[in-house]
Amino acid sequence: MTDEIKTIHASFKKNIAVAATPDDAERIRVQYLGRKGALATIFDALKNLAPEERKRAGEEANALRREIEERLAEKRATLEQTSHEGILKKGWLDVTRPGARLPKGHLHPVTQVLREIEEIFASIGFNIAEGPEIETDFYNFQALNMPPGHPARDMWDTFWLNQPAKDGLIARTDLQNKSVLWPHRDNKFLLRTHTSPVQVRYMETHEPPIRIIAPGIVYRYEATDASHEIQFHQVEGLMVDKNISVANFKAVMREFSSRLFGKKVSLRLRPSYFPFTEPSFEADISCVVCDQKGCSLCKQSGWLELFGAGMVHPAVFKAAGWNPAGIQGFAFGIGFARLVAMKYKIPDVRLLNGGDLRFLHQF
Ligand code: DAH
Repeated sequence: MTDEIKTIHASFKKNIAVAATPDDAERIRVQYLGRKGALATIFDALKNLAPEERKRAGEEANALRREIEERLAEKRATLEQTSHEGILKKGWLDVTRPGARLPKGHLHPVTQVLREIEEIFASIGFNIAEGPEIETDFYNFQALNMPPGHPARDMWDTFWLNQPAKDGLIARTDLQNKSVLWPHRDNKFLLRTHTSPVQVRYMETHEPPIRIIAPGIVYRYEATDASHEIQFHQVEGLMVDKNISVANFKAVMREFSSRLFGKKVSLRLRPSYFPFTEPSFEADISCVVCDQKGCSLCKQSGWLELFGAGMVHPAVFKAAGWNPAGIQGFAFGIGFARLVAMKYKIPDVRLLNGGDLRFLHQF
């Protein structure tokens, strides 16, 4: 008996969900509650049951009847107000009645922060540049002062590809969905390990002075953990002119960080090494969670490591076809998921790409 009641329940739920007119609702009422309806058959069969079971099945059947009655009444009321047929029957339409609210999505937290970053840099005069995610050895390494065999290549665990390029060009659709063809300059393909190749691509097609950021997805052939993904976002930055110095870099990045985190943050540079910059540094900002009192995010140090950066190496200008004499620039690369994780205090970057709506709805 219980099984039959469950079946009726399930079939009712299916039918009521697709009812579109008051007539549909009436048909469903007859089907389940009518004199020859599904529930009547159940109540009929009760008398053949043993007293114990009759009692239990009777209670279940009654509960189901109450549920069906309630949900039918609700559905009928809604359909009479909102369905075409219901409105025609009434002969009038309440134009002041608030519309039914449709569920609405929102931008992914990574996209939200990306838009904020773009806005902040746009407001201080930076353009937005793009490059392909399928890159070549030339742009990803050689032009960044890492010839074949250079040991620093090991800093980027690389996904190598054996896909030949068509007609000497890499095709891809850009942010506006236009098809773009990128020159590739050699035949060793990879998934770009950083957004730095966009610096070179941009310099090849522009003249100094330039100010750009280049957001995009990059790939690393590594094991994932709470702070590493194999596919993640970076934002590259590049500013080149006649008299650009580390002081300019600090000023721009301090302004950027303060605007992004909505409070005054200080910046600290530590010496580092990248083949494409000289000098190179790691840039930290004062911890935005604890204001340098010490917390788990900054591991009690008061500082958060935010980007790699440096003054552009003359070899990079040369690789892009520029004469390095008399020009200087700074460049930086921000690991993006980390920044989102910091801004929203997310403990594991893998949550960002996990596609779990319970997580994403919070932003
Ligand atoms: N491309 C580097 C990385 O992915 C980050 C970086 C460091 C970018 C220094 C730069 C830079 O532009 O100047 O680890």
